Amino acid sequence: VPKIRPKQVFSNQLQPRASSFKVAVLGAAGGIGQPLGLLIKMSPLVSALHLYDIANVKGVAADLSHCNTPAKVLDFTGQSELANCLKGMDVVVIPAGVPRKPGMTRDDLFNINAGIVKTLVEAVADNCPDAFIHIISNPVNSTVPIAAEVLKQKGVYNPKKLFGVTTLDVVRANAFVAQKKNLKLIDVDVPVIGGHAGITILPLLSKTRPSATFTDEEVEKLTLRIQNAGTEVVEAKAGAGSATLSMAYAAARFVESSLRALDGDGDVYECCFVESELTELPFFASRVKLGKNGIEAFISADLQGLTDYEAKALEALKPELKTSIEKGVAFVHKQA
Ligand code: NAI
Repeated sequence: VPKIRPKQVFSNQLQPRASSFKVAVLGAAGGIGQPLGLLIKMSPLVSALHLYDIANVKGVAADLSHCNTPAKVLDFTGQSELANCLKGMDVVVIPAGVPRKPGMTRDDLFNINAGIVKTLVEAVADNCPDAFIHIISNPVNSTVPIAAEVLKQKGVYNPKKLFGVTTLDVVRANAFVAQKKNLKLIDVDVPVIGGHAGITILPLLSKTRPSATFTDEEVEKLTLRIQNAGTEVVEAKAGAGSATLSMAYAAARFVESSLRALDGDGDVYECCFVESELTELPFFASRVKLGKNGIEAFISADLQGLTDYEAKALEALKPELKTSIEKGVAFVHKQA
């Protein structure tokens, strides 16, 4: 098992480097897109920040452009400006789509968001096929397979560079475990595997670092809380959407990790939902090592020595995750 450094967003602010990466956010005027744009604008590793949406993005870009950090902010509105937004990008982050309302599952979003992700990834394939692609739009368990199929159809699929962003599950697991066990937040690291909806989210509490012990009841309660944390926010917002601020924080961490990897840092590990051979499922969230060319290694050690509870939960999540993956693949083939 690699030695995993506690991760912070903007660790590079302590040691600024002269790197200059280009990042695009598609869906940049939304609840996630706006704070995410702000956090990316704060990164010293970014030289250009391209903001795309179907409406309302001009004001967001004008506003952000007044922050005195290096990234140059440009706005792009509507399909006709999408190609220009994407040319030359190193990382493309996609939070475009509709969020959940109370009573909805992530799967309920499928019909709208599937089409949005398909269209946007087609444009990524045409304009910056070599970029890291970060998919935030839900249901991630299906939208990542959709993106993969689109990229395959375009002949540019690189499974090492397509990521479903599950960082929020890790951020939540770390926050809840630190709170429960009175641990220093910055030290805590809990790997979260599987997928990004309901029971497919499987925090491996037995692999918590620094090591912590949990009673069976604590494991059950914490696992359920991490799995349902999104719904906690959806219900508290009572119709006004789902997690946006914590999601932007988590997405910014994943962007920063990707940029550090592109910059040659050899010590970057993140959990994400990716094409994988760790299980019999074609896509699976696990910890991976990131490098200049995307995924460099899958951390299979996390899946060894699971507790009975975790092993059972892993088997139990597979059928649901498989169905969601197949739904995504079928969506693209139906349209072809
Ligand atoms: P929002 O409705 O506030 O923003 C979505 C933005 O996407 C809007 O500005 C809208 O104009 C834009 N948009 C819609 N169609 C588009 C298109 N064809 N091209 C470009 N932009 C388009 O929603 P919010 O809260 O920002 O959530 C966005 C997505 O992120 C949802 O699907 C939500 O379920 C997902 N999400 C994912 C999480 C994760 O952990 N991966 C956590 C929280 C939300």
